[in-house]
Amino acid sequence: MRINTDDYIVDKSHLLEEAKDCYHRLNSESMEYTGWVDYPAGIDRELVDDIIATAEHIKSQCSLFIVVGIGGSYLGAKAVIDALNGSMHGCPDIQFAGYSMSAAYQEKLIRRMNSESTCLCVVSKSGRTVEPMLSYAILKDRMFAKYGIKEARRRIYVITDETKGDLRIDAFENQFKSFNIPTDIGGRYSVLTPAGLLPIAVAGHNIINLLDGAKSLMDDRLWEEGLLDYASSRVALQKAGKCVEVFEYFEANLTVFGDWLQQLFGESEGKEGKGAFPACLCFSRDLHSMGQFLQQGNQIFYETIIRIKESAFDLEIPWQAGYPYAGKTIEQINECSESGVIAAHRKAGIPLGIIEVDKLDEYCVGQLIYFFEMSAAVSAFLLGLNPFDQPGVEFYKQEMKDLVLKL
Ligand code: PA5
Repeated sequence: MRINTDDYIVDKSHLLEEAKDCYHRLNSESMEYTGWVDYPAGIDRELVDDIIATAEHIKSQCSLFIVVGIGGSYLGAKAVIDALNGSMHGCPDIQFAGYSMSAAYQEKLIRRMNSESTCLCVVSKSGRTVEPMLSYAILKDRMFAKYGIKEARRRIYVITDETKGDLRIDAFENQFKSFNIPTDIGGRYSVLTPAGLLPIAVAGHNIINLLDGAKSLMDDRLWEEGLLDYASSRVALQKAGKCVEVFEYFEANLTVFGDWLQQLFGESEGKEGKGAFPACLCFSRDLHSMGQFLQQGNQIFYETIIRIKESAFDLEIPWQAGYPYAGKTIEQINECSESGVIAAHRKAGIPLGIIEVDKLDEYCVGQLIYFFEMSAAVSAFLLGLNPFDQPGVEFYKQEMKDLVLKL
């Protein structure tokens, strides 16, 4: 992983020492909700084996694996599976539910459940979040109707807090196979726990390599410097009035990774009137919409490009495409687009950082996850915020509940 912050064009030197302190505090102090910091290195090998064995069993049970969850209980798993180009050949198709209350969407899923061999997995740390709990109630009911109690119990999986919550009771009473989300790891930092690892393994991806990628960054001095540069630059830019961070990538498979970043940064530092609004653009698509704004619009933003050095796939462009494209590969042209955008944006004076990994495999995706989790936590501390709470989210929940009670 390479982190280039030179072109953020901001003086961050006064923040570097403090950023280092924040990083060391995260690594050494026992602080609430920091279980994720050591988790990739400390995860129990027996647990990893159990997740892999369970995933193998699920693969033999179904062709459709529905994962119910919202926020950190769904975005991380979907981000990783999409980044790795979806389910591997012969593995179940993974569909997510519970992140939307659209009846049309659930209806479509139920239609698929009726004709395909299905397993259901509910992921909720609290076991109390309304959207996934409603979806789970609907889909669980269908599973019991389709398979009968005995077989449905073998096909439903629960991932929830290790000690608390209604889902723990549900899993116990129904004898569902269950996994724990450690109490000291919050939703948006939980992708490398069973919350993300089980669905990712069912999709056929190597979770050991994913964890190893994250682990590779711990105790890496070069990375630590890059991390502190990035976190300090973001905060310096925000203090200089750049209130939007635009994450950009030239790989459509990173689209949901962008959603995950939005949650990570939005919920970790969007409080007390602070934080950069995290926006995500996927190029080339958004060059033909937001590209104009970036180049010449209101310069309230800075850019962070997530660069993949080498694509996992490539295709040769046939002769019909004509000169100068025929005979070259689509990824060669994509690279020209990327370098062209970087050059044009640099010329326009846009602050621009680049986070680069070698390729989109499990190892590098693990690095990206750990890098951004650590960056979000350090940046929030630098802004004087608690990265691990989300008090603002509670307001809509109360308003919604009041309205539901009146129905
Ligand atoms: O980051 C967080 O903690 C939240 O966004 C949660 O992930 C989200 O609210 C879902 O919570 P739960 O897993 O308890 O259903």
